[in-house]
Amino acid sequence: MNQTALVTGASSGIGLEIVRQLCGRGLRVFATGRNAGRLNTLRQETGCFAEPFDLALPEAPVALYAAAKAAFGAAPDVVINNAGFNRRKAPVTDLTTAELDEAYAVTIRAAALLSREAMRDMIPRKSGHIINVASTVVWQQVENSSIYCAVKCALHGFTVALIKEARPHGIKVTGVYPGGTDTAFRAIDRPDYMKPESAARMIVDTLFAPADVIVHQLTFRPFVETNF
Ligand SMILES: NC(=O)c1ccc[n+]([C@@H]2O[C@H](COP(=O)([O-])OP(=O)(O)OC[C@H]3O[C@@H](n4cnc5c(N)ncnc54)[C@H](OP(=O)(O)O)[C@@H]3O)[C@@H](O)[C@H]2O)c1
Repeated sequence: MNQTALVTGASSGIGLEIVRQLCGRGLRVFATGRNAGRLNTLRQETGCFAEPFDLALPEAPVALYAAAKAAFGAAPDVVINNAGFNRRKAPVTDLTTAELDEAYAVTIRAAALLSREAMRDMIPRKSGHIINVASTVVWQQVENSSIYCAVKCALHGFTVALIKEARPHGIKVTGVYPGGTDTAFRAIDRPDYMKPESAARMIVDTLFAPADVIVHQLTFRPFVETNF
């Protein structure tokens, strides 16, 4: 039974809605992002634990995991690696070292280190659920988003390996591949895209699958993206 969850990228969009829904379904949740003000508002609204961490910093994932463990008084049952971004669209000729490093750090390094910390606690318990939020760009890469496509494909590769390592220990691992969702992810409003609460519901529901079912890969899109 999943009773506690650590959620990254929880100060906005899909992650914020995941926290609302998990709290509404009775889980104790540790929410994180960088924006302390939005996390504080979410804590007041839902009663979750909340603390800011910048996952671009190398020591942040381990410190975050320890903070969540201390808040719960035990290792989390669920870890949702949801933090991510596509800071700008640009051709390969314009890429900078700094944006490559930041995308790697938040999307891959943080998710891998949080998965490592979680697996170390979940293996002896023989239970747990790790969810990694990638994107439909894993299935269809697009121009002018090469870094985003690259790190999400890397997260997919990591997740598939993790699925295979976790299986013998009774630990569930899910890769999530959402299509367009109307969040702060992009500067313009996209009312034709999925609402963040809808994407969150798809993700949260995987935690409530029957015990003998693992959702390995969850792909979903808005109607406007059905031409793939
Ligand atoms: N929206 C879409 O169309 C779409 C489609 C497919 C996949 N996704 C994926 O879904 C996930 C959630 O995205 P969203 O649409 O909800 O976007 P969002 O509203 O922009 O939320 C992104 C979250 O990631 C956090 N974050 C970014 N950089 C961080 C850092 N250095 N350290 C810690 N947290 C950081 C942000 O926190 P702060 O703002 O507090 O820094 C925020 O909570 C992402 O992984 C995204 O790639 C989104």
